[in-house]
Parts: sequence; structure tokens; C-alpha cells
Amino acid sequence: MKTILKIFFLMNALFIFSCTSEKLDSSFKLKSPNNQLSAFINLNDEGIPYYSLFFNDTIIVEKSRLGMNTDKFLLSDQFKVTKVVRHSKDERWNQVWGEQKVIRNNYNEIELTLTCAPENNQMILRFRLFDDGLGFRYEIPKQKNISKFTIIDELTEFNLAEDSQSWWIPAYAYRRYEFLYANTLISEISRDRYSELVENLSGDRIGPEAVQTPFTIQRNDGIVITIHEANLTNYSSMALKATGTKKLECDLFPWSDGTKVKTSSPMNSPWRTIIVGKNPSEIVMSTLTLNLNEPNKLSNTSWINPGKYIGVWWEMIGTNQSTWGSGLHHGAKTKKVLEYIDFGSKHGFDGVLVEGWNKGWDQNWCCNGEGEDFGFYHPHADFDNKLVRDYAKEKNIRIVGHHETGTQIENYENQLDSAFAYCKRNGIRVVKTGYVNDGAQNIKRTGSDGKIYKEWHHGQYMVEHFRKVLEKAAEYEVSIVVHEPIKDTGLRRTYPNMVSREGARGQEFNGFMGTKDNNKPNHTTILPFTRLISSPMDYTPGIFNLKEYRYFAPDNRKINLNHHIPSTISKELALYVVIYAPIQMAADLPENYEGHPAFQFIKDVPTDWEESICLNGEIGEYITMVRKDIDSDDWFLGSISNENSRTLRVSLNFLNSNKKYNATIYKDPKSGGWQKMPEEFVIENRYVTSKTELDIVLPSGGGQAIRFSPEG
Ligand code: NOJ
Ligand code: CA
Repeated sequence: MKTILKIFFLMNALFIFSCTSEKLDSSFKLKSPNNQLSAFINLNDEGIPYYSLFFNDTIIVEKSRLGMNTDKFLLSDQFKVTKVVRHSKDERWNQVWGEQKVIRNNYNEIELTLTCAPENNQMILRFRLFDDGLGFRYEIPKQKNISKFTIIDELTEFNLAEDSQSWWIPAYAYRRYEFLYANTLISEISRDRYSELVENLSGDRIGPEAVQTPFTIQRNDGIVITIHEANLTNYSSMALKATGTKKLECDLFPWSDGTKVKTSSPMNSPWRTIIVGKNPSEIVMSTLTLNLNEPNKLSNTSWINPGKYIGVWWEMIGTNQSTWGSGLHHGAKTKKVLEYIDFGSKHGFDGVLVEGWNKGWDQNWCCNGEGEDFGFYHPHADFDNKLVRDYAKEKNIRIVGHHETGTQIENYENQLDSAFAYCKRNGIRVVKTGYVNDGAQNIKRTGSDGKIYKEWHHGQYMVEHFRKVLEKAAEYEVSIVVHEPIKDTGLRRTYPNMVSREGARGQEFNGFMGTKDNNKPNHTTILPFTRLISSPMDYTPGIFNLKEYRYFAPDNRKINLNHHIPSTISKELALYVVIYAPIQMAADLPENYEGHPAFQFIKDVPTDWEESICLNGEIGEYITMVRKDIDSDDWFLGSISNENSRTLRVSLNFLNSNKKYNATIYKDPKSGGWQKMPEEFVIENRYVTSKTELDIVLPSGGGQAIRFSPEG
């Protein structure tokens, strides 16, 4: 039987992987497997390579330049095509955890070897066209004249065919990726415009006018395009430089010496990606970023577990009743942590996050990159690490560790082995790391000359640091959730212990920012079409006490009425389905959950899915996601709206047509909404089938969450 299977798979592999050579020319066409997308690559008379992209007969990316300049040789013009190879692939692979179990990897590829006179330097351009978009990268093979070199500039352009509406956050700004989105035409992108529309970008204006990726546009004909990158490895991250027109240019975050990438041959650049959908819902379903990453490198993944956690966190960042540092109001005291463990265990949680457990918080650690050193295996005097460890084990809870680095990178790297060995000894299988530093180019690095240099959060130095931590964590069987991370480029496929990251404005801004400056109701209706295209996100949903929740200070227990979270309890529940993360936090205090009927949804909702579908969505307006539990036949629905009320009609035809389902619906009262009745909600039970059409009524800033369980 086994041999027959092997032969079958071998035949299948031969069938799906075809490879052909063709005659040399200067113009090449590539089609997606479903023939909807076409890419054209050509060289002009000066030997400069260009590409363009069509969706059916519509040009969506006009002639855009390719190439790079280095310190040692030219890889930008005078090219000739010296070899052409085409490949096709159609395979399926399984995720260790994710939004869907099985992913199809189906593409057509062209590999062009370009040779540049007079020294015959070679560069390979590899283009892969999927049904959901294009990926291409530069490969510099090992060759006679090229060993160590520095990239001065990557010349890739994205010359969009139309000056469309776009949703973006600024690059080269002080707060990494933690900004609200601006919505402007592509040609209007600038820090001045951002300051007018969203938030005044004070501070140094260093670096060009540019935006971070994923960067999403919607054309007048409805087509949606997201530009991003995949497999960002040993390179600098790509921002998109604005030109005041519809054209954007690849802009690599520089090192402090102004160069972009320090590298050597053989070298592969990250994939430059252009995800394309007929409408916003289609780009949400894209798997292109994951398909362009390397397969899982970890031979054993049994220690990587999706799940939900609570934690000593909101009482510092949200309600302002405790502190990370020591003293009367220190949050992470042994007794308090044991109480969280009791609550978590009673309600079936997997983890309890403990922030402020270690030494370093009492110094000036925040937020200028100049803080004192943290100790990552040095528990605080009033945190009894051994007692907590044993109690957690007894109660079947895993402690989620916390490493705030304050971006003291060298201090952290010096302790990495001991820090993760400490985790392993103490049963800590997940660590949340943190990189708070609200300066622009402000990360300290000691050069080989002993001098201090300041690097960007997104440059090659930090890309390599984040990888080092990820690999070290894997060695000790620890999964990581990174706050203030480098952007996600699909690395979770290769390292499934990269379970989640922040990398956008999360719930914390609703905690510490007043009503005027906190996240607006439309923020979570933009995220699924922008930041979440690179998924998952540690947004930390689940706040039930949305008004009058914050004290003036830990020792001033008067309520600060300047804080009102622009959400509703039903919307908070819906976010568990809308925002994917294999490790989700229930962020509010245990006392706000205990005895609360809506808490049942948080207890029920899974974090690992067999299948996900985006039923509807408009960027910045609304979205409805449904997902099927990996361990049962239950489906879950999350639907959210921006500040506008609306009714969305959805067909339940995703349900199994042979079953009848009990739907438990958590919704806002009809006349509710984030301003009027954020904490009011209705629970309704009804039977539905795959033929049912549901009207989802969403008031202003509201949401709806549904569990569908088959009968019997
Ligand atoms: C910012 C993180 O986003 C937040 O979750 C954390 O509590 C603080 N930094 C302290 O590390
Ligand atoms: Ca943060």
C-alpha cells in the first residue's frame, strides 16, 4: 500500500512541476494559473529591465523599473537576457496553525538570467504569478567578480496605473508602525498631509516622504491592490517612497552610514509582492505571502500551541491602577499572579501573561532608547518565580513571559541564552517581547570602532536582531509574540514559533489615550485590508468595561472621564473572529468578566481554524469574517462596522447543508452603538441552516459575534 502511495505521489509531483526553456529575447509574458493576471517583463535599448501587470485587459501597474546599484558593480542597465527558464507548480501544504489548515501553492514562474557587460555580472530575476498576485525577487548568484558587497539602492518601482484611493501609515516617523491610517490619493502622500488628516507628526523630519507596507489601494473600478514584501531575510525592510504622482519607489531603510544592505553572494532579495483582488474581500483571503516563504524549518512543533491568555496588563496600561515598576502598586506581585492563574484555570484559558515580573522597570526605561538595562532572568523581589511556576503547572496554566527590551538590543542579545534557558526551566512556552522607543532613527548599536551608532527600527540591523531572537527562542522551544516588531512578511511559515506580533495600533491606545486620540471606530475596519494582510496580530481584544474604566493614577482612584473606548461589547467579541491570531488575549480584568454572560463567547471562540472566509467588506467601512473551528464542526462569525450604522445581509451557505445549527448571537441593541450603549448587548438563540439569510444589524461603532453549533 505504502509503495503504491509513493508512486502516486511521485507521478503527481512530476505532473505538477514542469520546467521549460525558451528562446532568448527581450520581452517576456507570464500568466497566472487562472489566466486573469498577466505580467510583462522587458529590457529596453539600454538594457534596463522593466515589468508591468494586467488584470484581465486592464493595466494595473504600468512600466516600472527593476534593478539595483551596489558599491562594487552595476546591476541596473546594459543587461542582456542570457537564459530563460519557466516553471509551474501546484501543490498543497499544511499549516502548523492558522486561518486555514491547507494552503494551495499554485503559480507560473519565469526565471530570467541577466548578464551585464563588460564584466559579465549576473543577476537572476524570478517572477511568480499566482491567481492572487505577483511576487518577484532579485537573486545574485555566487560568481567570479562578486563576493561581499553593499546595496546602495534598490531601483524597483511600482508605477500604479491610476491615482487611486490609498490607506497608509507614514514611514520614517517616530512611533514605528503604531499609527492610525490616512486615506488619500496616492499622489497626496506626505507627512504634511498626514499631519493635517490624522496626527501632527512632530519631531525630526528625516528620511524621504514614504509609507510603510502592507500598503493598500482601491481603484475606481473596485480592484484592490496591496503592495508588500515576503520573506524579509538579511535585508533592510522596504518602505514605498512617494513621488507626488501615482508612482511609488522601493525605499530601503538605511544603515546609519547611509547604505541600504550589507550582503554577499549568493543573495536573494525579499520578494516584492503585489496582491490583487476584484474587491476588498478577495485580498483578505490571499495566501501569496505565505507561499513565498520557505517551508517549516522546525522538525518538532509539538511544543507550539495556539490558545488564549489573560494577564497582568490592562491594570497597568488601561485602568492605570498598577505599575510595572516596584512599590505599593506593583502589579506582578506573587499573590495577584496566583489569583490570575486561578481565574484563568477556572475558565479554561491556556496562559497568564505577567508583565513587570523582572528587574529593570524602576529605571528610566521608556521611551527614548536610553533606559537602564533590563534583566531577563532576574525576577523582581516580590515575584516568587518558583511558587508561580509550580502553581501554574498544578492549575494547567502556562505563564506567558515578558521581555521588554526598551530597544537595548545589545543588553538583550547578551542575555538571550540565559533568558530562554530560564523560560525552559520554568515552563514558559510563550514570551511576549517588546521594543518601546519613540524616537525615529534611535536604536543604539556599538560599531567595531567602539563608537555608538543610531539605527532605524526597520533597517537591516533590526531585521537581523529579530531573526536572532526567533531562532534562539526556537532552540529553547519558546514561541514569541513581538510588540513593536519589524513587519510580518510571512515568516511564521518557516518558523511557526513566530506566533503573533503587534506592528500596528492595538487596543493599548484605547487604554492610555484619551477619547480624542484613541483608536477611532473605523480603525479595526481598515486593519483587515492593510496590516492584517500580513497577519496575525496581537491586538488584544475583549474589553467589556468601555466607559469610566481608567483612574487618574494608581494612587488617585478618581475616574478620568476623558477616556471612552470607541467600541461595544459585541464588537469586542467580533474582533476575535475578524482579527486572526493563534494566541489571543482576553485583555480586560478578571472582575469585568466574572459572571458576565458575554464572556461565554470569549471562552468558546477557538484560535486555530480549518477554514476562513471573508463574506463581505469595504475598506474603512465594515467587514464580516466566518471561520470554522479546526477541532469541531462549529463555525464562528464576526462582523464589525465603523462609525456608521448599517445592516448587512449574509447568506449562511458556508454551513454544512446536511446539518441544522444552533446560532448563539451576541449583538448590540438596535438603537445601541459605541457612544450611546457600548456596554449593552443582547444574546439571541435561534436555529439556522445553510439556506438561512441573516440580517446583521450593526449600530454605529458596533459589531456582532455568532457561534453556530450543529445539532446533535
Ligand atoms: C508596549 C506594548 O505594546 C505593551 O503591550 C506593553 O505592555 C508595554 N509596551 C510595556 O512593555
Ligand atoms: Ca505597542
